[in-house]
Amino acid sequence: MVKQTLVLYPSPPIGHLISMVELGKLILKYHPSLSITVLVTASPYSPGTTAPYIDRVSKTISSIHFHYLPTISLPLDPSKPRHHETILFDILRLNNPLVQQALETISQTSSIKALIIDAFCSAALEVAGNLNIPALYFFTSGISDLALFLYCPSLHETTTKSFKDIDAYLDIPGVPPLLASDMPQPLMDRSEEIYEIILGFTSDMGKSQGIIVNSFESLEPRALKALTEGLCVPHAPTPPIYCIGPLIADGDGSAGNKNHECLSWLDSQPNGTVVLLSFGSMGLFSQDQLKEMAIGLEKSEQRFLWVVRSPATDDKTKHFMAKPEPDLPSILPEGFLDRTKDRGLVVKSWAPQVEVLSKPAIGGFVTHCGWNSVLEAVRAGVPMVAWPLYAEQRINRVFLVEEMKVALPMVEAEDGFVNSSEVEKRVRELMETNEGKRVREQTRRMSEAAKAALSESGSSPRALSKLAELWKVYDTEDM
Ligand SMILES: *[C@@H]1O[C@H](CO)[C@@H](O)[C@H](O)[C@H]1NC(C)=O
Ligand SMILES: *[C@@H]1O[C@H](CO)[C@@H](O)[C@H](O)[C@H]1NC(C)=O
Repeated sequence: MVKQTLVLYPSPPIGHLISMVELGKLILKYHPSLSITVLVTASPYSPGTTAPYIDRVSKTISSIHFHYLPTISLPLDPSKPRHHETILFDILRLNNPLVQQALETISQTSSIKALIIDAFCSAALEVAGNLNIPALYFFTSGISDLALFLYCPSLHETTTKSFKDIDAYLDIPGVPPLLASDMPQPLMDRSEEIYEIILGFTSDMGKSQGIIVNSFESLEPRALKALTEGLCVPHAPTPPIYCIGPLIADGDGSAGNKNHECLSWLDSQPNGTVVLLSFGSMGLFSQDQLKEMAIGLEKSEQRFLWVVRSPATDDKTKHFMAKPEPDLPSILPEGFLDRTKDRGLVVKSWAPQVEVLSKPAIGGFVTHCGWNSVLEAVRAGVPMVAWPLYAEQRINRVFLVEEMKVALPMVEAEDGFVNSSEVEKRVRELMETNEGKRVREQTRRMSEAAKAALSESGSSPRALSKLAELWKVYDTEDM
């Protein structure tokens, strides 16, 4: 009998690839007779970085296959800096004929039950349509973000102004009022190409056969209700929403994770006392900001584990290149490492975040509000200070602070700079005050709710089996 397969198509950044593979693993857990094929697009700015990961997955999970799409090269013109999202969209659009070819090849030996794409890969919706394959989105931010994105075409209709020129709160179903200035950067200016592109995919998403969301119902019930009641896509049916999370990468199985020096250091610290500061793989600070952060952290007198990356350069063309290891003594204030060595550890570039967050010593997390980090903190029950840097992180701060109540806000000046007093104040607030205690208790409750959502009869497996009804029809091996 013909093998049933799902084709997953993530955009190139490794974080997106990992999320897709995790989704594939989850689906296989419930439907082991399926096979999964992941389409791989070479990353335009850091080619090759995904290879070791892909290699490990291929070796350990025989039902997941990787299909490399031929490389598309775009001329990069350093005199014309563009949003990195625009470059991505160009590549993903030019990929379409290659995606179609790949799907045709795969369907010679397997029956493709669905194409699952991430939001950046919207262009592939057309290919799925050509080949009559159901297309679903895997949305890797929260339900509240989804409510906002699906409502974007409606927001677009209500005004002729760009968000950057609106000094007011936006009214969006299912989420707290949001300042227009908190909208994701690429959506700020409607005269820009990137605005058109993103608006296009928000509208495409509303027309897909379903949206899989990496979140869980009890974390964001209000947004989910607004979505299922059709309030976010007012003039058409809303696609079914499948909340299957929290789906968290269980490490990539490499030994470096389990043996990282910071883990044994954490084991020697008292429970609930260490603040983790870590800002994802694309979150870069200026040299001045790093110094200011160090001063605030020192004044806070808290224990800390700080993941420091090399400072951002002004050269935009280098922004996505791999960074050299940071030279800590030249980046941090003089004597900082020595003065804080009894209560702080600075790690260069990277730490195994899932393992770190699960250590009892961790009592707080200053984060850029990337959704994966948020879910990791929520599952571990670690309260956050929300310090957004890019993408949809500013709106996440609003959702985390005002709706989910699992974080305190870090407040920046108009130019984006966060001074040392603010760093000190928020870190202390989280670790020492009643306000911090409330956030901590709520985060613990949400951690319990996450476990319940994932339990056998929980909301997430239920969503997953509903999803499977889409492709189960001929899946005789499951019977
Ligand atoms: C610290 O937390 C761990 C895990 O929750 C627990 O087993 C241990 O007893 C705690 N230690 C202290 C001193 O409370
Ligand atoms: C530090 O930043 C906070 C928040 O932006 C601001 O309220 C405060 O006045 C600043 N403090 C100093 C000393 O600049």
